[in-house]
Amino acid sequence: MRKNVIAGNWKMNKTLSEAEDFIEATKTKIPSSDKAEAIVCAPALYLTELVKRTEGTDLKIAAQTMHYEENGAFTGEISPAALKSVGVEYAVIGHSERREYYNETDETVNKKTHAAFKYGITPIVCIGETLEEREADKTNEVVGGQVEKALEGLSADQVSNLILAYEPVWAIGTGKTATAQQANEVCAFIRNVVKEKVSAEAAEGVRIQYGGSVKPANVDELLSESDIDGALVGGASLEADSFLALVEAGS
Ligand code: G3P
Repeated sequence: MRKNVIAGNWKMNKTLSEAEDFIEATKTKIPSSDKAEAIVCAPALYLTELVKRTEGTDLKIAAQTMHYEENGAFTGEISPAALKSVGVEYAVIGHSERREYYNETDETVNKKTHAAFKYGITPIVCIGETLEEREADKTNEVVGGQVEKALEGLSADQVSNLILAYEPVWAIGTGKTATAQQANEVCAFIRNVVKEKVSAEAAEGVRIQYGGSVKPANVDELLSESDIDGALVGGASLEADSFLALVEAGS
C-alpha cells in the first residue's frame, strides 16, 4: 500500500507570523497515520524556523525549489546542502511556475533530483502539460517525456522513494480541476512509463500526487482513484482548517 502524500504549496504567500500561526494551529492536529504524510512547502526564508517548530510532530516541511550545486557563485540560490543543514526533508522540483518563469528545464530538474538524493532530501518532482498541449492531444507525449528525463540515471530504489506530482498547468490556480478520471488516466500512464523505463517495483512504489485546484470538496474523489497517491495543493492549503481537512481526507 502506498502512503498518500498531502502537501500544501504556499508559493509566495504569508509573512513569518502568518506562517508561524498556521504551523501552531496545525502541527498537533495531523493524524499520525500510516496512510498519509503531511507536508508544508514554505518560502525559503521560513524553513529554519518552521522545521524547528515542527520537530517531533507529524507535519513535515519542504522547500519549494533548490539549486543542484552544493555551493558556489549562484547569487540568491539555495543549495541542497543548506536545506539539509537546517533539517528540510523534502523539496519541490520543477514546478510549472519555475519552468515558466525561472528557466527550469528537464535537464535542471534531473540534476536537482540527483542532488536531492545525494543530500537525503526527498524530491517532489512536478510534471504536467499546458492547455495547448492537451488540446493538441500531446498530454502523454509531454508528460511521458518530462518523467523520462527527470528520472534519467536514478536507481530503481531512488525512483521508488521519490514523489511525482502531476499538475496539468491549465488546472493550476484556475479553479478548473481535471476530473478524477482525467487525472487518474495520466497518473496511470506515468506509472506505466516508470514501469517500462525503470522497473515494476519502482512503478509500484513511486507516489504520484495530483495537483491543480484541489480543495476539500474534490479531494476525496481524486484520492479514491487507483493511481493517485496524494495531492499537491496551492490555494486551498493556505488556511489551516482547509489544509487539515485535506490531510484528514488522505489519512
Ligand atoms: O503546487 C500546487 C499547485 O500548483 C496547484 O495550485 O492553487 O491550483 O491548488 P492550486
